[in-house]
Amino acid sequence: MSEMPAIPLIYIQLAYLVAAVLFIAGLKNLSSARTAPRGNALAAVGMLIAIIATLLMRGVVNYPLILGGVVVGAAIGAVLATRIQMTAMPQMVALLNGFGGGASVLVASAALLGGETIAASVPAWAIVVSALIGTVTFTGSLIAFAKLQEMMRGQPILYPGQQFVNGIMGLGILALCALVALQPEQVPAFGALLAVGLILGVTLVIPIGGADMPVVISLLNSYSGLAACATGFVLGNSGLVISGSLVGASGLILTKIMCDAMNRPLTNVLFGAFGAVDQTAIAAAAGGERPTVKAYTPDDAAIVFSSASSAIVVPGYGMAVAQAQHAVRELMDALEERGVKTRFAIHPVAGRMPGHMNVLLAEANVPYDKLVEMDHINAEFPETDVALVLGANDVVNPDARSAEDSPIYGMPILNVDHARQVMVIKRSMNPGFAGIDNPLFYLDNTMMVFGDAKQTVLGIVEALKEV
Ligand code: TAP
Repeated sequence: MSEMPAIPLIYIQLAYLVAAVLFIAGLKNLSSARTAPRGNALAAVGMLIAIIATLLMRGVVNYPLILGGVVVGAAIGAVLATRIQMTAMPQMVALLNGFGGGASVLVASAALLGGETIAASVPAWAIVVSALIGTVTFTGSLIAFAKLQEMMRGQPILYPGQQFVNGIMGLGILALCALVALQPEQVPAFGALLAVGLILGVTLVIPIGGADMPVVISLLNSYSGLAACATGFVLGNSGLVISGSLVGASGLILTKIMCDAMNRPLTNVLFGAFGAVDQTAIAAAAGGERPTVKAYTPDDAAIVFSSASSAIVVPGYGMAVAQAQHAVRELMDALEERGVKTRFAIHPVAGRMPGHMNVLLAEANVPYDKLVEMDHINAEFPETDVALVLGANDVVNPDARSAEDSPIYGMPILNVDHARQVMVIKRSMNPGFAGIDNPLFYLDNTMMVFGDAKQTVLGIVEALKEV
């Protein structure tokens, strides 16, 4: 194999610096839907620069092998990216996080097992951190993937003394970390560290409800960044240190935003076994002592819209399940043609992943300026003729404002009940993610239009042509 000319390290470091600036500019641009495509492009260019700089470093020993990896990886990535359904995006991200964690473990293991030549130049603590976080991220992400892909039970898996067992394993792994950091030549201890880390990843994630997985995935994403950062120290690669810390920090911030929007501390997500459906709510939903609801048809809904001058659509998880975004775009066009001012109210945790509604509505070419964040639109509900709740449930549950015993008490919600008329489209009286009943459905100014979100909205669009 021919030797590449050695590039002075200063140029490599400069290239990493440029890449880091592009990553940061990319992240900044990702904060708004309008600038997000530019943010993606900037970050991708940064990654390209970082990859080229890395390939030009001395020490790269086998270019054909790397090229083979690039071709196979790019082919798999391209197929997955084009085939994946938007609703399956969280599990795709889980897999990517898992592989990131797994890669960190492999690098750490190679550094430790590579003998003195490699290990002597590498800080042992970096190997330990990389292996610890990498193993937990790897198996934790695979469990998250399996839960979301319904390859295993989504409900929390609980057993007596679970937290105690996890605690003991946590202490054990810390002791192993200290041992390996002080005596890196203790290969069996390193093997035990990897084994316990892999088990811990499983045991930490199985007690978490499947519907809480997006938060866990965001946290695991942060972990994979921290593992990559530690791997950067193992490899002496400043580009990896910087990009790993950016992923670690942004994952943590996103995790906090999600927890705040659900008004739940992270400890409740991780240890609260939330997502186990409230059986009393289910019993009530099955026909207990609840007041009756008023059920209407799409034709009735069209008549209500025909005399409205303003409407706010509140999309939720059901819109994603039904893939009703194109239908609701048609409804928006039909309403605007009739002079009904129509906007979309976006709750920060509507759906099952951050930005879920924004992405779906953008796919249907709903203009960005029609999407209004919760804090801005809430004051407008009292002046609005129709609030159309489309497959949303928890994010419009008034109990979050007033029922102190509700599991979602304190979660900020969209105040649809303040609108003159509330129209709810869903298939049944089943609860949403939180597994609780919603008093909104029984209010005097609420009309229920039962059915699949897409079919029902298309039905209203058809009926509007006749009124
Ligand atoms: P949910 O409260 O989960 O309610 C969704 C509703 O959609 C259900 O009540 C369901 O009722 C209905 N639905 C399902 N399929 C439908 C279809 N094909 N057509 C019409 N309706 C359908 O959704 P939400 O209001 O968007 O709230 C999101 C919840 O997820 C919150 O509790 C939030 O905390 C949680 N969460 C969100 C995130 C992120 S980052 N977004 C992460 C973790 C957890 P039927 O079965 O009767 O149709």
